[in-house]
Amino acid sequence: MTAFAPGRANLIGEHTDYNGGLALPFAISEGVTVRAEPLAGSRIEAVACDLEARDSFSFGQARAVPGWRAFVRGAVAELLRAGFRLRGARLAISGRVPRGAGLSSSAALEVSLCLALLGVSGLTEGDRIELAKLCSRIETEWVGAQTGLLDQLASLLGERERALRIDFRSLEVTPVALELEGHKLVTLDSGERHANAASGYNQRRAECARACELLGVDSLREVTLPDAERLPPPFAQRARHVITENERVHLTVSALQRRDLSAVGALLDASHESLRDCFQVSTTAVDAAVARLREAGAIGARLVGGGFGGHVLGLLAPGAAPPRDALEVRPGPGARLL
Ligand code: GLA
Repeated sequence: MTAFAPGRANLIGEHTDYNGGLALPFAISEGVTVRAEPLAGSRIEAVACDLEARDSFSFGQARAVPGWRAFVRGAVAELLRAGFRLRGARLAISGRVPRGAGLSSSAALEVSLCLALLGVSGLTEGDRIELAKLCSRIETEWVGAQTGLLDQLASLLGERERALRIDFRSLEVTPVALELEGHKLVTLDSGERHANAASGYNQRRAECARACELLGVDSLREVTLPDAERLPPPFAQRARHVITENERVHLTVSALQRRDLSAVGALLDASHESLRDCFQVSTTAVDAAVARLREAGAIGARLVGGGFGGHVLGLLAPGAAPPRDALEVRPGPGARLL
């Protein structure tokens, strides 16, 4: 029994998921594979092949531990808590998503662990949106990063050749054809690693929550720009980013529908500027990677994921040669049993 879950790129819509906003991610072909064999009793034996590291524990005895082990223990505990009658298993984890790179190695790991554990126990997974929420609890409660649902939904619901327009207020997911007219989407590593739990991610999330409190609303989706401008710094800037980023997602979907790739490029640039200047999640290394993509012929480029390091994404004009260390990303299918 082998499960595979992809990482994701996000065309646009950053730091909007936990603000009830809009995003346009897609699953990529790089991901995490978990091979599972049944084991008698209620014991889990896990090996992280790339790290040459092991863990073993029994159901009910799992406590929070650092690193990759938190994901395995969290997956087992959250599935049990949700009422799935798991069997013991031996798990072998291997992956090809660069860790801490903003391509969501964490969600790929959570999702493939859950599919493998359910599969080896002979259980059906049920609704994928519910499974995405369960996977997100692994991250918030066991790993300590207060992330939203962007990565898990993209990994579970990904479709070949389509991005997913996700409305995080209603959890409505609409596939959008990603026809690039000869352009290429590529990612480039800024060389700076981030860990969501330790970076400023949780702080940004708290700032958005505080902005809502000050305005007396439940989510920044309900806020208009003039309301946001009344907030003191840095809350006004944080809210401005979220409001304008939602609008950019909306405009990107329309631009894709009219196949207006130069408009998409301009929106990617505007997203990066807003993430850098208003949301303040870029770094010198990330800005330098964006500049390298532009020099290579990108008509738009921006940081992707939580920020504070990781990868950047660029839209390369037809015929432009990507930098040698760039990775072309294309929308592929979501998580599955192989
Ligand atoms: C990380 C989180 C997501 C999302 C992005 C920013 O990838 O895991 O939930 O908030 O950052 O858009």
